[in-house]
Amino acid sequence: MSVDLTGMPANAPSGGDLPLPSIRLRRLRGSERIRRLVRETRIDPAMLVAPLFVCAGSGVREPIGSMPGVARLSPDLAAIEAETLAALGVGGLLLFGLPRGKDPMGSEASADDGVVQDAFSRIRSLQLPIVTIADTCLCEYTDHGHCGPLTRSGEVDNDAALERLAATAVSQARAGADIVAPSAMMDGQVAAIRAALDGAGFQGTPIMAYAAKHASAFYGPFREAAGSAPALGDRRAYQMDPTNGREAMREMALDVAEGADLLLVKPGLPGLDLIAAARQRFDLPIAAYQVSGEHAMIAAAAERGWIDRRNATLEAVGAMVRAGAGIVVTYAAGDIARWLADERS
Ligand code: PBG
Repeated sequence: MSVDLTGMPANAPSGGDLPLPSIRLRRLRGSERIRRLVRETRIDPAMLVAPLFVCAGSGVREPIGSMPGVARLSPDLAAIEAETLAALGVGGLLLFGLPRGKDPMGSEASADDGVVQDAFSRIRSLQLPIVTIADTCLCEYTDHGHCGPLTRSGEVDNDAALERLAATAVSQARAGADIVAPSAMMDGQVAAIRAALDGAGFQGTPIMAYAAKHASAFYGPFREAAGSAPALGDRRAYQMDPTNGREAMREMALDVAEGADLLLVKPGLPGLDLIAAARQRFDLPIAAYQVSGEHAMIAAAAERGWIDRRNATLEAVGAMVRAGAGIVVTYAAGDIARWLADERS
């Protein structure tokens, strides 16, 4: 059966003495039908995870200026959003909490009546076909904005943070989180959380380790969204130097040894090589995070008419999948699911 390559010239003019190619890669590019057939990378909504920012109150939807299309939602609206995303076939949700109050220890992170816990239990009661993931960190909950309690000299106290992170993970699992995702970049956090979950009867709760997490400039919009910019200093004493790669592999290997069930690389596009290396080296599911700044750059350029948001988003997420990510966390998860459904209809 012949394939109709619409738009291809029937007879290419002869080039005289010029050598003409017999291998013509353009043969497989001539129509959308054939391009679709030979496409190497496909995105499935089931592999996407949508982050949600949960705030206090009810009926609250506050758009986030630096992240077009993303809003802070109170637990009741977060549950409705979860229903919408589940209906679109999106695979998972990643919940961040904006607490009612902050203190030096980030107490509300592990409060059983915290906003994120409330959202998890509402979503659980809906029994949706979507996986719920908790971002397990303290920076949204501490008044100083760092990912753990501080020592007297003002550094983040690694070992004190472990206890807080472990209590937070247990509280999130108790509220109904299917997976916990520690993102604080404290040494030993995966082992501490595993032990605490097991001790509390959550042996079946997987840990998705933000294993390779760099001190990236691309988290800027998130910090506005979550109100979590450090009051003093930055996160470079615990997140990795943005271009270190060998260290990223050590972080991942350690998290695997500590019991991580899934590994996450972040940010996504600047980390494509690490996604590929992780895919080669480890047999765990590998996730990539298209972070707030990656999302905002595309959205802002699209608003100016400089870039096509749909195509740029699908290209960036597709590149992460090509690199080896089986899961992509992206603020565009719902939009991507809609675009893919439109293509099929
Ligand atoms: C919490 C956390 C952050 C992000 C994910 N988890 C903020 C940070 O580390 O500063 C960033 C996500 C994004 O930028 O979209 N520690």
